[in-house]
Formats: sequence, C-alpha cells, structure tokens
Amino acid sequence: MANSSSGDSVTDRLVRVLETFTPTRTVQTAAEIGRRAGLPPSTAHRIVGDLVDAGLLDRDLEGRISVGLRLWELATRSSLALRVRQAALPAMERVQARVREHTQLAILEQDEALFLERLSDPDAGANITRIAGRLPLHASSSGLALLAFGEPALQERVLARPLRRVSASTPTDPAAVRRKLAEVRRLGHAIAPGYIEEVSTGVAVPVRDHAGRATAALSVVLPRDTAPALALEELHRAAHEVERALRSPA
Ligand code: PHB
Repeated sequence: MANSSSGDSVTDRLVRVLETFTPTRTVQTAAEIGRRAGLPPSTAHRIVGDLVDAGLLDRDLEGRISVGLRLWELATRSSLALRVRQAALPAMERVQARVREHTQLAILEQDEALFLERLSDPDAGANITRIAGRLPLHASSSGLALLAFGEPALQERVLARPLRRVSASTPTDPAAVRRKLAEVRRLGHAIAPGYIEEVSTGVAVPVRDHAGRATAALSVVLPRDTAPALALEELHRAAHEVERALRSPA
C-alpha cells in the first residue's frame, strides 16, 4: 500500500490506530489516538474519520471514539477462534457448573496465551484474565499447557527471552520453566500455584490435535489452597470432548 512521507504504509498506520485500544482503554479522543499511535494530528483525524465512516470505529455525540461493532462482526464471523470457542463452550459450561470457579479457553497468539472465553461464577475468587486479554506463556497455567504441548521452536524462542515476573511465585529461571514443562508433559496438565496472583492457582489442560500438539487450553482459576483434583478431572474430560468436536466437520 502507499507509503506516507515517514515511510510507513497505510496499513501500518491503521494497525497502530486500532492497537491504541486495549481492554482497559476502550474510549479515546482522536487526538489521544494520534498521540498514542505516533501520528500527526491531521493524519490521525483523517484515518479515524475514514474508519468511523466505514463503521470500524464509532464516534459518540461528544466525539469520543470506540471500536465499532462492525469490526467485531467482521473479525469474529470468519475466524478460526470462533470455531474453537463454539466447540468448547458446552464443555466449558459443564466444567463451570460443576467446579463453580472461573473457567477459561485460551489459544496461542504471537507467543502469548490469548483468552477467547471466560465463564465466571458470582462467588468465584480473584481472576485477572479477560476475554481478548493475554497472559505470558511461562506464567499462566493455560500458557504452560500451550507451551508444553507446542512446537519445540516455540519453547526455545520463549525460553531464550527474559521471562517476566508477574507475581513473586512466577518462575523466571529458564531451567525452572523447562523442568515445569517436563512435568506438564508427564502429567498431561499444568498447575500454576500463585504464578499470576499469589491468591490463586491456575490449572489447565491442553486441547490437542491428531499430532498431539496443543491447539487450545482449558483452565480453571482456583483459590490458592483449593485442592485441584475435581477441576482437573473435569478439565480432562472437557478437553477430550472439545478434541472430538473439533475433529468432526463444522
Ligand atoms: C492461570 O492461568 O494460571 C491464572 C490465570 C488468571 C489468574 C490466576 C491464574 O487470575
């Protein structure tokens, strides 16, 4: 696509505009978008105006901008993520009803765990995951399940980079993470006590393809001292069900 005088393409600038929206920053002015996207104000106003006209962004009566439903519609209706989510929902609902704690579905995206769905119980404990939010692979139970049953090249890439400490209990030493991954492969599930938040334990089971690679992970966030046996039993059963659903034609 055509380049601006600064050398970045139209697509680069569109992506930078859209990426200024985050789970906690959902409404902004065009000026804020421009500043955060590193664009001159006139360029930001033009791009935002075009995106509003196309329905990909919405502008309210005070001129504040948010992501438009049309963008959600286009992104959702044809995505692989939707198929995984639809295959997983009935099993997730059963896990959630039996365990009565937060139940999540995550997939691998750009070397992080991206959460596609989260079912919560009003009485469930702390949980920082959000739908369309991300967590580091080495620090979350879902991430560890995706990593342990992922491509070897993924593991090497992730372990070669600094491993961010999310809580005091997050493993940040590559050798310790390697040992944990071996344990996850041996057990067939990941238990992450306090890795994300000291008050909770994440437990996750991979959803695997015919080659044994994880295509997704199902997880439950338990209060730190809750025994994980019931959640794990339900998650293993659910993962098999999702694997069967994904194998059958859509
Ligand atoms: C986890 O997957 O390990 C996890 C996720 C969210 C939390 C705690 C643990 O709040």
